[in-house]
Amino acid sequence: MLNIPLVDLRAQYQALKPELDAKIKEIIEHTAFIKGKDLERFEREFAEYCGVKRCVAVKSGTAALFLAFKALELGPGEVIIPVNTFIATAEVIHQNNLSIKFVDVDRETFLMDLEGVKAAITPYTKAIVPVHLYGQMVDMHALKELIGSRDIKIIEDACQSVGANINGVGLAKFSDIACVSFFPSKVLGAYGDGGAILTNSNELADKIAMLRDHGRKPSDKYIHTIEGYNERLDNLQAGILRVKLRHLEEWLKARQRNAMLYNNYLKDVSQVVLPKTQPNAKHVYYVYVVMVERRDELREYLKQHGVASGIHYPVPLHLQPAYNWMGLKEGDFPVAEYQAKRILSLPMYPELSEEQIKKICELIKEFYERH
Ligand SMILES: Cc1ncc(COP(=O)(O)O)c(C=O)c1O
Repeated sequence: MLNIPLVDLRAQYQALKPELDAKIKEIIEHTAFIKGKDLERFEREFAEYCGVKRCVAVKSGTAALFLAFKALELGPGEVIIPVNTFIATAEVIHQNNLSIKFVDVDRETFLMDLEGVKAAITPYTKAIVPVHLYGQMVDMHALKELIGSRDIKIIEDACQSVGANINGVGLAKFSDIACVSFFPSKVLGAYGDGGAILTNSNELADKIAMLRDHGRKPSDKYIHTIEGYNERLDNLQAGILRVKLRHLEEWLKARQRNAMLYNNYLKDVSQVVLPKTQPNAKHVYYVYVVMVERRDELREYLKQHGVASGIHYPVPLHLQPAYNWMGLKEGDFPVAEYQAKRILSLPMYPELSEEQIKKICELIKEFYERH
């Protein structure tokens, strides 16, 4: 029987064990746990990799989103977000005294529907959060054009899309701030929680750097300019991320190759809708998501044959118990609801072999032949 997980973090550790172990040992021996050299260097190296002026590393992707809103001080008003995303995109809006305005997603790309965004903009709109879901960026140029001269901030939720770009343009180019996550399973994953903000504004970067560290400037340990939070990324995680960053591009290529293999092996299965990539988009395939008929039965069949799968996400946010009070109901966001019943994330990680992908696809074909 097969034994293929959705994500295999062990394979990556085995490949980098000497480098990672040496870095972890070095940091522990230097007892440089908080605000150490690796944190500073990681921020510089990651900003350079992303082609952005500044990176401020924080404790998680959620912290990055929370502090981005804090720093922008948007006050009361509305923030437009897609209805299919992880709840963190939404939580931070209410935590910053703003209200959520959900929009539906695109039928083919799964991304926030830009026509829906256009219709959702009101004089109360303070910000829009494009979520670069599954590893593919929203068309930021089109979003920017649609906003026109209105004073609406853009905060990118790029937690799933480190390394992605569209028309050659990467994160934080058309936005005020982009937020990324280094959750262990992400394309660039720490060994615990981690995240960062990316921005070309020195002012915003400095403010977020203060907010994450009890409101103090790096130059003065005992002076707290403002009240802040403890949301620093620790040095050990930064050191691990520095080692991994050197391998990121090769991992992204492997993810893309794996996605192409899936596309090829599944192209003739009529019950499977393949993921759609926008023209000129560099999709980094954080997850590989297909839409299928009889999803839950297929999932069970794969499980029985030793293949794990996931659903990102089975319940759109407007139907989550946490948002019952908003009075939204089934039927309000039909595309996201349709997709939520059919989407299936297949195993995806750089070390996944062609042989394994072929076997997974054979099982899928077999399921539809037999059932
Ligand atoms: C789209 C999206 N937003 C936000 C987050 C939150 O990131 P973290 O888990 O690092 O807090 C995640 C990650 O889980 C995510 O996928």
